Amino acid sequence: MRLFLWPRSLAARTALVLVAGLFLVQGAALSLHAWDRIDLLRLEQARGLAFRVMAVYRTVIAVPEADRETVLAGFPHPPGVIMRLADAPAVRLPPAPFWVQRLLRVNLALAPLPPRLRPRRIVIRGGLAPGRVAVGMRLPDDGRWLDVTTPVPPLRPWRSPGFLWAFGLMMAVALGLSLWAVRRLTAPLRTLAAAADALGRDVNAPPLPEDGPTEIATAARAFNTMASRIRRFVRDRTELLAAIGHDLRTPITRLKLRAEFIEDEEQSHKFLADLDELETMVAATLAFARDARDGEPVVSLDLAELLRTVLDEAADARPEAAEAIAYTGPAHLTFRGRTLALKRAFANLVGNALAYGGAARLCLHPPDAVGTVTVEIEDDGPGIPPGELEAVFEPFRRGEPSRNKETGGVGLGLPIVRNILRAHGGDVSLANRTPRGLRATVRLPG
Ligand SMILES: Nc1ncnc2c1ncn2[C@@H]1O[C@H](COP(=O)(O)OP(=O)(O)OP(=O)(O)O)[C@@H](O)[C@H]1O
Ligand SMILES: [Mg+2]
Repeated sequence: MRLFLWPRSLAARTALVLVAGLFLVQGAALSLHAWDRIDLLRLEQARGLAFRVMAVYRTVIAVPEADRETVLAGFPHPPGVIMRLADAPAVRLPPAPFWVQRLLRVNLALAPLPPRLRPRRIVIRGGLAPGRVAVGMRLPDDGRWLDVTTPVPPLRPWRSPGFLWAFGLMMAVALGLSLWAVRRLTAPLRTLAAAADALGRDVNAPPLPEDGPTEIATAARAFNTMASRIRRFVRDRTELLAAIGHDLRTPITRLKLRAEFIEDEEQSHKFLADLDELETMVAATLAFARDARDGEPVVSLDLAELLRTVLDEAADARPEAAEAIAYTGPAHLTFRGRTLALKRAFANLVGNALAYGGAARLCLHPPDAVGTVTVEIEDDGPGIPPGELEAVFEPFRRGEPSRNKETGGVGLGLPIVRNILRAHGGDVSLANRTPRGLRATVRLPG
């Protein structure tokens, strides 16, 4: 189930849980404190109330029956308090709840009075805080009722305003600290993600620092070990390739010498042509392996300038196709990459476009919203059968099985292109154009 307000980032989730927990615990603590205080305040309120009511009662009972009204009228009473003598108790307020009755009766009984002067009956109506409470007491001698109705102010569990301020401040500090801690804790994850990304672009990217808390240092160490294993793996394979390429050269040379001795002129000729082809393939393989081994440094370069140079060189090599070579895009574009490798990749694509499509129109698109640079190379040739569009990236895969001299090539061009672009974190894809021609699209992350 997807929660509506559940954030996506780990930092935000942890912070949310922490803050919610903090609020819950603090809220519970505050409620406990308030309850406790309210209990205490109620007790105090009931005691004060009973004391004031009994003070009136004692004054009234001490004077002769005839003077009681006058004394009552002259008794100083705070605002809101109603005192009267009547034949029946007041019934305007609803009967008080049991706990109010008990609390008040206990406190009323505490008044020091001889038993004969105590009220014959007590009726309590209304309620405690907030509200009004009426205490009716039947006088023992003349049988009349003394009613005292008093407003009861609401209870305030947090009396000083500083209390709530201090509480708010404490919460704000705790909130700030937990947000800071969460950000700090998740920072290594971001570093790890960035390092993994960098490794994808360049196997020789610098290792992660292995310091910090143990878990993070362990993760960094594991990551660095993985990176060095990948590096060794890649190096071993490339060296193997170079060794095979190198060792094949001697037997090929020997075979060439022996081919001279073949009697049949035609057979000898074919044999030598095959050996030439084999030699070209081995040379290409060796060049590829050498490139992969001599890690070129990543530098800041002008991609627009580099692409124009590639096109110029292609035009120089094929003056007859110069008309069909064009560049569109910005005059300059700074990009971080390996100059020679990128040049080789684009030269291969432009070379293919000219060789198979008779044209090379190159278009450079500046970085998009996420920083990806796109380069498109279009030609007007026959294109590639849809089923072959991916297969041509396999080494030694050629559209035309005979490796004939005019269209040249051994079928290592596209694999090298892809290899170089992937080492930059990008990629290349091919698509046929309508009505004819091929479009190679290169995407490179900025
Ligand atoms: N622009 C294109 N139009 C049509 N076919 C193409 C195009 N580019 C490549 N191909 C096909 O893909 C095959 C593989 O290309 P790739 O560049 O890998 O090798 P190559 O050009 O044959 O040899 P080289 O190693 O010299 O580049 C080519 O033989 C060709 O059939
Ligand atoms: Mg090629």
